Amino acid sequence: MMLELKDINVFIKSSHILRDVSMEVDEGEVVCLIGRNGAGKSTTLRSIMGFLKPETGSIKFMGKDIIGLPPHEIALLGIGFAPEESEIFADLTTFENIEIATWTRKTTRTAEERIKLAYSVFPSLERYKGRKGTEISGGERKMLSIARALAMDPYLLLLDESFEGLSPAIIPQIASSIHQIAKMGHSILLAESNIYHVPDFIDRLYIIERGEIIFSGKPEELKHDRAVLRIVAGAA
Ligand SMILES: Nc1ncnc2c1ncn2[C@@H]1O[C@H](COP(=O)(O)OP(=O)(O)O)[C@@H](O)[C@H]1O
Ligand SMILES: [Mg+2]
Repeated sequence: MMLELKDINVFIKSSHILRDVSMEVDEGEVVCLIGRNGAGKSTTLRSIMGFLKPETGSIKFMGKDIIGLPPHEIALLGIGFAPEESEIFADLTTFENIEIATWTRKTTRTAEERIKLAYSVFPSLERYKGRKGTEISGGERKMLSIARALAMDPYLLLLDESFEGLSPAIIPQIASSIHQIAKMGHSILLAESNIYHVPDFIDRLYIIERGEIIFSGKPEELKHDRAVLRIVAGAA
């Protein structure tokens, strides 16, 4: 198993945010964590990355216990993270934002290869490689955030709401880029609040509601679970 969360409980200040959350991502899998706003998706991803520390439970990445490691060490183990707010460097160019990721983690692929791969997945970033982070659109910032995480050459990518706030025209483009990344062999865990944005190529999904996993299975299994569908889709 590539990533394994077992019964994690996370508190922020004194609020109990994640309750016994367990989930897994296997090698080569694309897994989606679906839940309404405030359900606990970002908290889950931030706990995996080491920004939040669970009180109890375990998080294992490639067999290694990672709770307590600082975020940069977790990234170096091979987990790329594209946070909800993109968090790209606004003063750096698109190229520099991607290039930086190649410095931090060394892998068998050269920096040139990794930058080329990122551009092959997001061609518009190559067109705008000289533009600063402030000079590209919201959709391109989302792409850049994913491209930068990809340029780390990670085993696993965590993508937090990659489709949020984007125009309907750009959503299929980004979905197809994520599909390309999956086909390169990277495992992917993506968080999504809008069930209609969940790409059709995902292998498995989890539904989180008020900090608890209330469903886990394959997409076709969800279609038969009206009670859960009512929660995430607002209809049965
Ligand atoms: N820094 C914080 N301080 C207090 N509460 C927080 C903080 N961050 C998140 N929360 C709470 O944790 C819950 C889960 O938030 P979050 O993981 O961001 O949800 P999601 O990503 O699914 O929208 C929400 O109720 C939110 O209000
Ligand atoms: Mg969130």
